[in-house]
Amino acid sequence: MKPKILVTREVFDETLSYLGGHCEVESNQADMPFDPETLAQRLGDKDGVVCCLTDRIDDKLLARCPQLKVAANIAVGYNNIDLAACTARGVMATNTPGVLDDSTADLAWTLMLAAARRLTEAEAYVRGGQWKGWHLKQMLGVDVHHATLGIIGMGRIGQAIARRAAGFKMPVLYHNRNRLPGDVEKWLSATYAAKDELLAQSDFVVLQMPYSPQTHHFIGEAELKKMKPTAILINSTRGGVVDDAALIRALKSGTIRAAGLDVFEGEPKLNPGFLELKNVVLAPHIGSSTEATRRAMAMTAAKNAVAALIGGTPPNLLNPEAKGKT
Ligand code: DGY
Repeated sequence: MKPKILVTREVFDETLSYLGGHCEVESNQADMPFDPETLAQRLGDKDGVVCCLTDRIDDKLLARCPQLKVAANIAVGYNNIDLAACTARGVMATNTPGVLDDSTADLAWTLMLAAARRLTEAEAYVRGGQWKGWHLKQMLGVDVHHATLGIIGMGRIGQAIARRAAGFKMPVLYHNRNRLPGDVEKWLSATYAAKDELLAQSDFVVLQMPYSPQTHHFIGEAELKKMKPTAILINSTRGGVVDDAALIRALKSGTIRAAGLDVFEGEPKLNPGFLELKNVVLAPHIGSSTEATRRAMAMTAAKNAVAALIGGTPPNLLNPEAKGKT
């Protein structure tokens, strides 16, 4: 008997055919997000789940899934999964680190460049038929090259963002829970800074730390006031790390110059205040969304799930303590 697995959202054909080689697969290629009750019903008789950040994997759900051995998230972030509850119930949880670092770093840079050079505002101006010709002071932006880049959260993606700064000849400051080893700092040409020092000195502040109760509203009114009035804030990590209402006030009042956002509190809903502002670039959580990367993420999750279901250790196991309990 093959183990039973649920894939909660649409994936690629090769993901399903790989899973089908090892498991009895129930998929959701129609891509309608399951509400918690539907998810619990579908998962009740399954041994594994390939899930996404739109699925909440918590103790209430796990209590209704007695056979579940693995929850394989198609994301590097896993704040949608209650890891402690998984561990307590012997459910292995996995994520997809590594395969999305460069694509996500590219998107952070896209937001930096677009916000600095007012690209979405400029495009709307052209599309709206307002462009009547060249003039010297038209859509003046700010330079990215030679500006100071401050990165908060210097894991793999933060480091990929830092590496790209060399081409723009930007000094890099970083803040992280743990300071990086000296040789890594040297290789990245990045200097450690306290949070307040980084906020005060950076022209671009890029947030790339995971979301958790400890990082909830890591950037709020007080932090925005510590930034330069010319600074640009980029959130390419998770909604909730920034107090969105405070950011809207700061963008309106000129406390900071601009922002580039790929993630929002309570997404896909977003604070309507953002839509009234010209000095914010908005994207719909597409940091890792290139075809190659999303295919790699889905396959990484599928391989994690299958490894767990055939009695192995998933390559990206987040809670090794759960393994002994299955
Ligand atoms: C992640 O991997 O955490 C991304 O946000 C998903 O796109």
